[in-house]
Amino acid sequence: MRRLLLLAALAAVACGTRAPKEETMAQLRERVFANAQVQAVYMDSLLTVMAGPDRPSRCPRNFQDGKLVTSDIDWWCSGFYPGVLWQIYGETADTLFRQLAVKHTLPLAELLNHKTDHDIGFQLMSSFGRWFVIDFFDPREEDVLPPLEIKGILEKGAAALASRFLPTAGVIRSWDHGKWNFPVIIDNMMNLELLMDFGDREVAEKHALTTMKNHFREDGTCYHLVNYADDGTVLGKQTVQGFADESAWARGQAWALYGYAMMALKEKEAGNMDLADTFYGVATKLEDWLLPRLPEDGVPFWDFSQTDYRDASAGAIIAGGLLKLRQYRGAKDDGKGLRAAERILRTLASPEYLAEPRTNGGFLLKHSVGHLPNKSEVDVPLTYADYYFLEALTLYPYAE
Ligand code: GLY
Repeated sequence: MRRLLLLAALAAVACGTRAPKEETMAQLRERVFANAQVQAVYMDSLLTVMAGPDRPSRCPRNFQDGKLVTSDIDWWCSGFYPGVLWQIYGETADTLFRQLAVKHTLPLAELLNHKTDHDIGFQLMSSFGRWFVIDFFDPREEDVLPPLEIKGILEKGAAALASRFLPTAGVIRSWDHGKWNFPVIIDNMMNLELLMDFGDREVAEKHALTTMKNHFREDGTCYHLVNYADDGTVLGKQTVQGFADESAWARGQAWALYGYAMMALKEKEAGNMDLADTFYGVATKLEDWLLPRLPEDGVPFWDFSQTDYRDASAGAIIAGGLLKLRQYRGAKDDGKGLRAAERILRTLASPEYLAEPRTNGGFLLKHSVGHLPNKSEVDVPLTYADYYFLEALTLYPYAE
């Protein structure tokens, strides 16, 4: 039966990734998830061939020169492929994807025995966090890990993240490497979700408030990195992965938009309307800057000052952030962000970005940029582009 379902998915995408004329967003979601099923199984088969006793737990990283490039579990992206598998399981309830998701999530528990950094939020929330929320805990399925154990792993990860908080500065340290005294990158806003759901919410709130004060420019955009002295004095503001210190690195803006929209929603759910409004204010100011600056097809260039390479990952994350802001506004939403998110998703689901089945190393999307100034991962598929693309498709309000 399972094979039949997968064959049906393959048949559905066999004619390529072309959208039918006048495709509705619901049809688009169905088409993309059918493609995702084929790609995810294909990627697992490539990983299985590559694995060996001396190379356990390889995680997909990108696809370059016709080859799947992998990482170990310490790489910040190790949770995203398991997260893709959990999202497919959440969408299809096909237990093949539960098995694959469990298989690729379990090795990440070992992270708790490693030296971790702020990326523990990305790594655990996309894998175990998804497991905790999406798994149906079907009594017919064997509980590989009871929910309480999954929760325990997430709580331990949250404690490791909180241990990086410096109270005198009011922020969580991002990196342990490099020339900085106490570097904080805007990406760290995304890791706060682990603390909000499984750890010390006050630490997350303080980090978001300090970042709001020091990372943002007058126009609403943000710097990539702020370096702090131990007493919280700002020593410098700069970029690492963007074009220039004063330019707007697209994924940095995407992390900020999504991160503050996520924080606003969490505070609203908890009834903390003062903080909710404060975080919502940061996200909407950035949204106002972003919307008129997105290219016509919605997918940004890797830096807003550049016009060479597009970054599908930034597009997918921005779409998710816009949809979260729409959720926050509810009935008061004016539809501007929603229309931009739809534009981005339609472009990402077009043949220009969406890979043909069983190509692209099993990644869904082409054309992302990892770290251009380092000449690393330029115009390649990346796991987080796929993860946030699928997530945005599940956040989209299809009834409207
Ligand atoms: N968090 C690293 C990046 O966005 O490239």
